Amino acid sequence: MTEQQTVRLAAVGDTHIRKTSQGALKAVLAPVNGAADILLLCGDLTDYGLPEEAQVLAKELSAVDIPMVGVLGNHDYESGQQTEVCRILTDAGVKILDGESVEIAGVGFAGAKGFAGGFGRATLGGWGERAIKSFVQEALDETLKFESALARLRTRRRVALLHYSPIAATVQGEPPEIYPWLGTSRLEEPLNRYPVDVVFHGHAHSGSPEGRTQSGVLVFNVALPLLKSRYPERPIKLYELAAEPQQMDASIGQVPV
Ligand SMILES: [Fe+2]
Ligand SMILES: [Fe+2]
Repeated sequence: MTEQQTVRLAAVGDTHIRKTSQGALKAVLAPVNGAADILLLCGDLTDYGLPEEAQVLAKELSAVDIPMVGVLGNHDYESGQQTEVCRILTDAGVKILDGESVEIAGVGFAGAKGFAGGFGRATLGGWGERAIKSFVQEALDETLKFESALARLRTRRRVALLHYSPIAATVQGEPPEIYPWLGTSRLEEPLNRYPVDVVFHGHAHSGSPEGRTQSGVLVFNVALPLLKSRYPERPIKLYELAAEPQQMDASIGQVPV
């Protein structure tokens, strides 16, 4: 695949695989091999963050024969065994991004889990009790990880992966009381400095499928429960990254160089 070709992405998050979930992703993943070039997994891949759950997921993913890139979600941290979960998924062929970037088929991917904290003027500030400060620090640390991953991208076509949402638009549909736990505008700031073609995230199971950052970057919420309720016939997001514009030699007109 060259940089001049369209790259087809498939994306889904919040699969919440349990020990008893064998076969649960069969229908979800069915179109992937034929319809996409790269599969993106947007966190909460397991339900309790247990290695046994990751093993079940690894088996489900063995049906996928295209490259896989993902981030972990808060559920993958629940049992404190995220390192083992990450290792199992890595062995299964998923490139897990935790503040890192990777290039596949001429497209750069930057990813991090992200964190909560609220949006816009309601974003929680690090002031007052120590517990509030450490909560906000976690959001700042994840934002910094995300930013350094974005800053390392060298490709012209760029994709960002998160678990938490960087914008309020894609959590709309959830109860407003829980917006602050679904993501934070802090994650949007690096996207304004290091633009990408598209962002995928999960976590907001009852949010909205699509929104844009302040700078106009497309953001898709690909949480599986949301995709199942909106698109029950094909609950996976397919998105085509257009081919890079071919450079033209101005002296001759239409000849690509
Ligand atoms: Fe989830
Ligand atoms: Fe989540």
